[in-house]
Amino acid sequence: MPSEKEYLEKEHLLKNFSLFITIVKTMLFIICGALLYVGFGDKFDFDFQKQAIKQSRYANSQSSFDEEDWDKVENGIHVASGLVYVDNFDIIRANCTACHSGKLVAQNRSTREGWKQMIRWMQETQGLWDLGKNEPIILDYLAKYYAPEEVGRRANIDMAEVEWYILELD
Ligand code: HEC
Repeated sequence: MPSEKEYLEKEHLLKNFSLFITIVKTMLFIICGALLYVGFGDKFDFDFQKQAIKQSRYANSQSSFDEEDWDKVENGIHVASGLVYVDNFDIIRANCTACHSGKLVAQNRSTREGWKQMIRWMQETQGLWDLGKNEPIILDYLAKYYAPEEVGRRANIDMAEVEWYILELD
């Protein structure tokens, strides 16, 4: 028969042993976790801000123009920019829709000289670059499709063509 003292000593030893096992288990758990993180951490996206940006980008790409709409032309108008579509439209798109909507261009009308002044103004104050050899192409385009409209003004009467009659009063 073990004495009570022996029994207590054994129990104490057992307790210590189970504590030791718990510590080892915990350490193993942590080491495994660390190894998993090192091995596969990059597969998970822990950066929630980045995730949010990705998601909003996705949402934006869904709501805004799809690839095919980018070049869509309806009734001679390039839909995405609202500008008249021509053969060398890429020159216009690259230079005139970079900072503002093409609709701002389409709303305006002017002579070739007026357009040139607008371009100079943007170059001097808004950081528009030198258009180089594209400038005459762009000016031709603007002067042709966005020329001033004579709204509400009738053509001059050709006096020679008018058939005059005598107003008879009794
Ligand atoms: C570097 C940027 C930039 C580029 C590129 C650019 N613009 Fe602008 N443009 C501006 C800014 C800024 C304004 C002022 C916008 C505002 O007032 O809200 C402006 C205004 C305009 C306006 C309105 C002017 C007015 O009096 O209201 C027209 C028209 C215009 N741009 C035409 C063009 C054309 C045509 C091109 C291509 C040759 C072009 N823009 C390229 C920056 C640019």
